[in-house]
Amino acid sequence: MQSQFYTLTDYPRGLPDRALFKLETQTLPELADGEVRIRNRWLSVDPYMRGRMNGVRTYVDPFELGKPMEGGAIGEVIESNDPSLKVGDNVSHMGGWRDIAQLPAQGVTPLPDLDVPEQAYLGVLGMPGMTAWTGLNLIAECKPGDNVLVSAASGAVGSLAVQLAKAKGCHVVGIAGAAHKLAWLESLGVEPVSYRDRNAHELSDAIKLASPNGIDVYYENVGGICLEAALSQLNEGARIAVCGMIDDYNAAEPTPGPSNLSQLVIRKAKMQGFIVADHWSSYPYFLNEVAPQVAAGKLAYKETVKEGLESTPEAFLALFEGGNTGKMLVKLDS
Ligand SMILES: NC(=O)c1ccc[n+]([C@@H]2O[C@H](COP(=O)([O-])OP(=O)(O)OC[C@H]3O[C@@H](n4cnc5c(N)ncnc54)[C@H](OP(=O)(O)O)[C@@H]3O)[C@@H](O)[C@H]2O)c1
Repeated sequence: MQSQFYTLTDYPRGLPDRALFKLETQTLPELADGEVRIRNRWLSVDPYMRGRMNGVRTYVDPFELGKPMEGGAIGEVIESNDPSLKVGDNVSHMGGWRDIAQLPAQGVTPLPDLDVPEQAYLGVLGMPGMTAWTGLNLIAECKPGDNVLVSAASGAVGSLAVQLAKAKGCHVVGIAGAAHKLAWLESLGVEPVSYRDRNAHELSDAIKLASPNGIDVYYENVGGICLEAALSQLNEGARIAVCGMIDDYNAAEPTPGPSNLSQLVIRKAKMQGFIVADHWSSYPYFLNEVAPQVAAGKLAYKETVKEGLESTPEAFLALFEGGNTGKMLVKLDS
């Protein structure tokens, strides 16, 4: 059987050129003991993947040039050489950026039996959802009544973070780009703030208008002017959960830090980064809390879907241009 997969031909500087992603074909070797073969139906593209394209190890190894790229995926087992999985099982795993994955069964997880579309396990009930829940609860220790600010608020992580904060009874402000994203946030009961065509000072003023009582929790997905603007609106004892800094991921040169970091001292605030993988033992708690609300339609989520394996690089690159509302996914022919 043949598998089509993407490789990276070189490590990019700045926004990756589309030509760096090469679609290749290989004949898969015979299935070894303990391996399974999966026909992927959904692929995830995520901002963190850009960090794997720099050729250096961060909290995860870089993609190896010329080797199949990886990422979250959902599919169906079509051959199994392991007793834990059988043909027909629907599973999630990390053999994405390809149509057919062949990998050890121990890295493959059967999907929970819940009344939600399977691709939700790449978004609201998967890694991005778990990230929103972790950052808000375990890192920022968000509590009822907090004034909460979320950047990239209409994305996969941000859109769940704002709703979880609303459900706690918080006043929530969400930063996003396009008008339709701001309108969606407003429909969720979030005060929408655009960062487009604004400098840090102007964005800070807009946040103040939207949250006159300051900010107790900042859920940071962006960095850049969003961080600088947020810092200037912090209340005493504020907590910043640093989830990501997408504004920085394609920077070809070192970027300047915020000019007002001293606000952390003045406001006696805490700022803590985190990686969701370190908190994965809490995934069952997250799922218990969030999955029933998603199944009941009490938590909203959106998906932006690109069709076909050939669209995977475009889907990935669009993340850096605001091309997605909610989770960016690639749907493969099944
Ligand atoms: N720490 C962890 O373990 C962990 C895990 C998952 C994700 N993350 C991080 O969480 C953040 C969100 O991830 P996600 O998967 O939910 O992505 P996402 O928000 O669904 O997609 C990215 C969005 O970011 C916004 N954006 C892109 N470039 C921007 C810029 N320069 N300035 C302001 N906004 C920009 C765009 O929305 P607009 O139209 O609003 O600009 C875009 O749609 C990322 O920083 C990611 O790296 C961290």
